[in-house]
Amino acid sequence: MIKTTLHINPAKTLSYIAPEIYGQFSEHLGRCIYDGIYVGEDSEIPNKNGMRNDVVDALRALKLPVLRWPGGCFADEYHWRDGIGPKEKRRRMVNTNWGGTVEDNSFGTHEFMELCDQLGCEPYIAVNLGSGTVQEAAEWIEYMTADGDSTIVKQRQANGRKEPWHLKYVGIGNENWGCGGSMSPDFYANEYKRYQCFCKNYGDNKLYKVACGPSAEDYNWTKELMSRIDHGHANAISLHYYTLPGDWEHKGSATDFDEQEYYTTISKAMYIENIIEKHLEIMDEHDPEHNIDLFVDEWGTWYDVEPGTNPGFLYQQNTMRDAIVAALSLNIFNKHSDRIAMANIAQVVNVLQAMLLTEGSKILKTPTYDVFRMYVPHQGAELVESHTDETTCVESGRTVKGPAVHYNDITIPALSESVSVTEQNGQKMLTITLANTSLCDTLSVELELPMQYSFAGEASIAMLDGEVHAYNTFEDPDHVRAYETEEEWSGNIQTLTLPVNSVCRVNCYVC
Ligand code: AHR
Repeated sequence: MIKTTLHINPAKTLSYIAPEIYGQFSEHLGRCIYDGIYVGEDSEIPNKNGMRNDVVDALRALKLPVLRWPGGCFADEYHWRDGIGPKEKRRRMVNTNWGGTVEDNSFGTHEFMELCDQLGCEPYIAVNLGSGTVQEAAEWIEYMTADGDSTIVKQRQANGRKEPWHLKYVGIGNENWGCGGSMSPDFYANEYKRYQCFCKNYGDNKLYKVACGPSAEDYNWTKELMSRIDHGHANAISLHYYTLPGDWEHKGSATDFDEQEYYTTISKAMYIENIIEKHLEIMDEHDPEHNIDLFVDEWGTWYDVEPGTNPGFLYQQNTMRDAIVAALSLNIFNKHSDRIAMANIAQVVNVLQAMLLTEGSKILKTPTYDVFRMYVPHQGAELVESHTDETTCVESGRTVKGPAVHYNDITIPALSESVSVTEQNGQKMLTITLANTSLCDTLSVELELPMQYSFAGEASIAMLDGEVHAYNTFEDPDHVRAYETEEEWSGNIQTLTLPVNSVCRVNCYVC
């Protein structure tokens, strides 16, 4: 058992936690859209306008704030006109990025907007800069958001949508340093400026424009991009970072891993904080007033696909290890919510670190789903100051705070945490989220408030723990599941026990 103290100051609010940090990503990749979300109106799987009811219901419980679409790499080969009008006439194309399958475009703009309506979330659309044209991008925005009697608006109306849709978030291209066109940063920056210029605001619809930012540690991309764009062109730049236990050739199994691989995964997931901080430093040099936000619009674990599945479909299982990665990543995003305005885990259903897996009419919620559910109260709350006492060591440029886990050459913090506050019924309600990354030590955490504060009444405690390899199957869909308990809390110190390899969320009033 390792003991530590977490000091929480409910009076010291630091930044607003944008609900969009809890965003999701859906791509025409493998069984994410087709099978996973969209089964068509004639399917035997219960659906509304083609969207699976079970999936929509499960995602609504996560209060999904925003959904990114249509990719990913797919976005830069997607031509929106292929996905409108009568389905039988829609163009069939080869999805060259993801398995070479034939995409029949039966899920297009109208279907995506319908999905967002059913989920009650904001759409975040990535337009095609890599293989499209400025005119195509401009006309897509007009199709979605304009009113009046232009030919394009009439076409939308003829396709069944009279009113324009509300659309805020528009990404201009995706990974244009790679699958989106292998561009240099200066070439992309110029293209970006041209494209964004013709993505217009119609009526009272105001676009929030996102430029393609760096991959992981590509600091040069950020520097070159930021030196060429300003607030007049962009509202945010995006960062993509994936956690692979191994390398791109041998990523590692989702379920079959040893302790070394576990700690490597956790250490690599935590490394995102260094990366974020370095990109923010560069952004600050060019934008000292912080007019341009950072989006982490693709993140999560990426393993070898499940044996026997299509390598292009990126279908992977999801264990307690993934739950820890999700918990610590979300804590990091919360801690940087002064600059991170959105994050989108990849991807929502059946692809990479998914919330949900489906098989025919069956569905299961992954351990990562439970973490997102537990963290819901952080959405729209204010981050408050919280810290552990000790600084244990500085490891590869990262300060390890509080108790540490040492495993061979890896040192990581045993405790990941973030705390937020909201006002409810005139009282302060804290949300405390914690993860114990250790596989061998239970953590005993003293939650300590300043003397003038005390915990007030019933604390609701949600706990997700289990053997690190544990995961849910279609035969045993609730094998790993968070459970809730309630305790009466008072005074300014409360002790919480975190089992090895666990995620915990506490909601409690303080006065
Ligand atoms: O999420 C899978 C892929 O990862 C996306 O299509 C791409 O943007 C990234 O490389």
